[in-house]
Amino acid sequence: MLALYMVPMAKGFRHQACLVLAIILLLINQSEQLQSSQTHTLLRLQLLLNYPDILSSWNSTINFCNAEPTSQVTVVCYEESITQLHIIGNKGSPSLPRNFSVDSFVTTLVKLPNLKVLTLVSLGLWGPLPGKIARLSSLEILNMTSNLLYGAIPHELSSVTSLQTLILDDNMFSGRLPEWLGLFPVLAVLSLRKNLFNGSLPDSFSSLENLRVLALSHNHFFGEVPDFSSLTNLQELDLEDNAFGSQFPQLGNKLVRLVLGKNRFRSGLASELSSYYQLQWLDLSFNRFVGPFPPSLLSLPSITYLNIADNKLTGMLSENTSCNAELEFADLSSNLLTGHLPRCLSDSKDRVFLYARNCLATAKENQHPLSFCRNEALAVGILPHHKKTKPSKVTLALGITGGIIGGIVLLGLIFIFVRRLNANKTINKPTTRLIAEKASTAYTSKLLSNARYISQTMKLGALGLPAFRTFSLEELENATNNFDTTAFMGEGSQGQMYRGQLKDGTFVAIRCLKMKKRHSTQSFMHHVELISKLRYRHLVSALGHCFECYLDDSTVSRIFLIFEYVPNGTLRSWISEGHARRSLTWAQRISAAIGIAKGIQFLHTGIVPGVYSNKLKITDILMDQNLVAKISSYNLPLLAESAGKVGHGTSVLPKDPSNSARVSYEDKADVYDFGVILLEMILGKPSKSRNEVQILKNELQAIMATDDGTRRSIADPAVQTSCSDQSLKTMMEICVRCLQKDPAERPSVEDVLWNLQFAAQVQDAWRVDSQSSDGSPGSPSQPPHLRVSFR
Ligand SMILES: *[C@@H]1O[C@H](CO)[C@@H](O)[C@H](O)[C@H]1NC(C)=O
Ligand SMILES: *[C@@H]1O[C@H](CO)[C@@H](O)[C@H](O)[C@H]1NC(C)=O
Ligand SMILES: *[C@@H]1O[C@H](CO)[C@@H](O)[C@H](O)[C@H]1NC(C)=O
Ligand SMILES: *[C@@H]1O[C@H](CO)[C@@H](O)[C@H](O)[C@H]1NC(C)=O
Ligand SMILES: *[C@@H]1O[C@H](CO)[C@@H](O)[C@H](O)[C@H]1NC(C)=O
Repeated sequence: MLALYMVPMAKGFRHQACLVLAIILLLINQSEQLQSSQTHTLLRLQLLLNYPDILSSWNSTINFCNAEPTSQVTVVCYEESITQLHIIGNKGSPSLPRNFSVDSFVTTLVKLPNLKVLTLVSLGLWGPLPGKIARLSSLEILNMTSNLLYGAIPHELSSVTSLQTLILDDNMFSGRLPEWLGLFPVLAVLSLRKNLFNGSLPDSFSSLENLRVLALSHNHFFGEVPDFSSLTNLQELDLEDNAFGSQFPQLGNKLVRLVLGKNRFRSGLASELSSYYQLQWLDLSFNRFVGPFPPSLLSLPSITYLNIADNKLTGMLSENTSCNAELEFADLSSNLLTGHLPRCLSDSKDRVFLYARNCLATAKENQHPLSFCRNEALAVGILPHHKKTKPSKVTLALGITGGIIGGIVLLGLIFIFVRRLNANKTINKPTTRLIAEKASTAYTSKLLSNARYISQTMKLGALGLPAFRTFSLEELENATNNFDTTAFMGEGSQGQMYRGQLKDGTFVAIRCLKMKKRHSTQSFMHHVELISKLRYRHLVSALGHCFECYLDDSTVSRIFLIFEYVPNGTLRSWISEGHARRSLTWAQRISAAIGIAKGIQFLHTGIVPGVYSNKLKITDILMDQNLVAKISSYNLPLLAESAGKVGHGTSVLPKDPSNSARVSYEDKADVYDFGVILLEMILGKPSKSRNEVQILKNELQAIMATDDGTRRSIADPAVQTSCSDQSLKTMMEICVRCLQKDPAERPSVEDVLWNLQFAAQVQDAWRVDSQSSDGSPGSPSQPPHLRVSFR
């Protein structure tokens, strides 16, 4: 049987920190031919939008997928269909004429069924948003800012469970927010600023645990804010200019931006505020907050903007009150504060400091007499805050140290596109494609009739990895102890590698790529999509990504790629560096070789476009705890961007025939590298140069024609007694062919895989025979359905 040879786990195996993804730079592009129906759809949208100037370049002859994206119009294709459409009209565009029908518009739009990202901004769209927009069932980001849409958010949208970002700012939507809005499983951004919504917020919002941004400013909401303390990812809460109140909301302490200005809050401030160590922007102005103002808010480690104007906050400031160095704006005016102006604020020219209409001991800015503040403070009758728990000292200390380090690193808000690909989709696709690829090769019928092979191929699905997803920077910081040096694994020209442990205990390897040029996250989505498909049993697979963006223009500053962590050392450490206890048996070596060949085959044919020229080395093959071989260094797309080049996911697998030769050559380069690895697995010793490889190859070739004993004598002593002659001979033969100087003479990956599987089969049969009663190593009869290319 073609079995995987399981080995009893080596006790106390070492975590060899040698997972260095030496990844090579190459921009992989792709030519995409748009289906004509989609071209037709785009042209129809152009018509329905009344031929706006920004779409003037659209006509039936342009190749939409290859068109240069502009700041206003971008079409992104993937595998022959449109996955992203961005049309951003000019600010203040007038509404579309009376004959515009939002219903026909959406009916046309949903003919682009693979849309994941849709931006339709400032286009003058008017009318109620039709529920059929939910037919865009893979939609992840919907941005329809600045139009004239009205009515309710259609409830059909609740079926789009992949929705991560919903932005309907600056429209005329009205009514209450429905309960179902809180039930989206992966919603990260909900922004409904500047609409006519009213009513109170549904309690279901408390369960939006992936929510990062909730922006509801400039509406007519009222009532208490639901309990958000379980929204541990919430970074921005903007409720400005509504009628929320009266209690200070219950929030998680990860907030970066909190805006409660212009509402009807009447309580005291939550004492937890002083522990919001990531808080940069705090606006409580124009409410009726009462009770003490904690001067410690001025020295929160990340705070840059603090506005408490027009409340009834009391408290005594001192000259010695300290401020965070980054604090740029502090407005304390129109409160009931007493004491002296803090020197850190009044002495600094770079800061805006407003403090009028308090009872401070200064002649400036209209201060009231002290008695005024005292009487007013007594008059307000301070409501006790409903949540009295003090932050523990430990949290605070952690918070503040974390914040100080964080304050240096975390310069901007982090906008994150959560992408969670449907696990089934990611995993099943390559399976079907792989089988389809096979259909074109010469020995299709044999392959397909070999049920074992198919079941092997089917195993692709059983990866057992979580779905590719977005990680938060904070998650990565926690996993690596703030990218501590102890987590550092190595640095190549393409960035640093860290080892981390996620909250659930899993270990991961994190590659950090610094971007040299400024590009939007959109420019990288195509590559991230590609990387998300590089998931396979014999690859060190990607688990997710994280964008870190600059605050000023939201361009990407760093990309983190998160890979599975493969704990059991390199293949070399199990062959030529291994001490006796840790040396692979012959059967395990064949099985590892099959794994590597399958990994190569997946890189070439399991995704489109294929990934070639991977410069494979034995030290880049990692072994997992079950001794499954995984390729850790492959020609990852995206790395080109970190060097400043950027593609928008369009163009260029070569079309002309001269280039297809190049492709097959690239294919054979990986076959050669595989041969070098195989050589080391057979001989049990590394070869130091290409020259030495050729010498060893010639030696192997000569010896192949001799007898069993001679062949055995050249093999790694560790396996000499445990290998069947036939399988050793097969392995040597395929190794020699892989190492041919002329790429054209090297076998195809499929050919390699066939021979390896044959070697595994005869080895298995031999082992069973040799263990049976007579004990003599038998020569297996050759299975008639297997192709063996030598005799
Ligand atoms: C709408 O009316 C304008 C003229 O006001 C016309 O040019 C345009 O073609 C009409 N659009 C549709 C979709 O009928
Ligand atoms: C289509 O647009 C391109 C440029 O945007 C232009 O060069 C070409 O002539 C146009 N074709 C037609 C048929 O209008
Ligand atoms: C939505 O569109 C607006 C207007 O173009 C833009 O400012 C905003 O960044 C967009 N949001 C996202 C998440 O793309
Ligand atoms: C909320 O808005 C709807 C639609 O604009 C309106 O009919 C309703 O009276 C409003 N409800 C309240 C309580 O203001
Ligand atoms: C401020 O600090 C100075 C010197 O450290 C000290 O003399 C003074 O008493 C302090 N003032 C207050 C109000 O704590």
